[in-house]
Amino acid sequence: MKSILVMNGPNLNLLGQREPGLYGNTTLADVETLCHDAAQKHGVAIEFMQSNHEGVLIDAMHDAGRKIANGDMIGVVFNAGAFTHTSVALQDAIKGAQVPVIEIHISNVHAREEFRHHSYLSPVAAGIVVGFGVKGYALAIDGLMATYGDEA
Ligand code: DQA
Repeated sequence: MKSILVMNGPNLNLLGQREPGLYGNTTLADVETLCHDAAQKHGVAIEFMQSNHEGVLIDAMHDAGRKIANGDMIGVVFNAGAFTHTSVALQDAIKGAQVPVIEIHISNVHAREEFRHHSYLSPVAAGIVVGFGVKGYALAIDGLMATYGDEA
């Protein structure tokens, strides 16, 4: 069975307790369950990770690129958190590893502070899901399957 990697960046381990007015009460463990449910409908597996460290996320993107090249993985759903707005290195990793990435944000970043309006990932993303709360993860999985899965 092929897989989709769901990657989460800094501070997303605090989901559920962090600014609930913005991000809701759902925990990252709940998000993982939601992703497994969404993937099951498509007959694919989910690998799920979170890291507060940019280098760990870059290494994971490179690993994903190798799995995709081997035909074992379809792509990545990526909430890079604040690294979205700062990381040239993550943009380079996505480009370099040739990974289809769906960028996802729980909140509508465009309705928030100016510094959240720019994303280093969007120019190299296959698609973007913004502002649908944690349900956006399921939408991102559906979108990835619709464009890169066996049903594409
Ligand atoms: C976020 C939006 C980012 O601006 C913020 O730094 C996050 C979460 C979101 O999911 O809405 O950590 O990516």
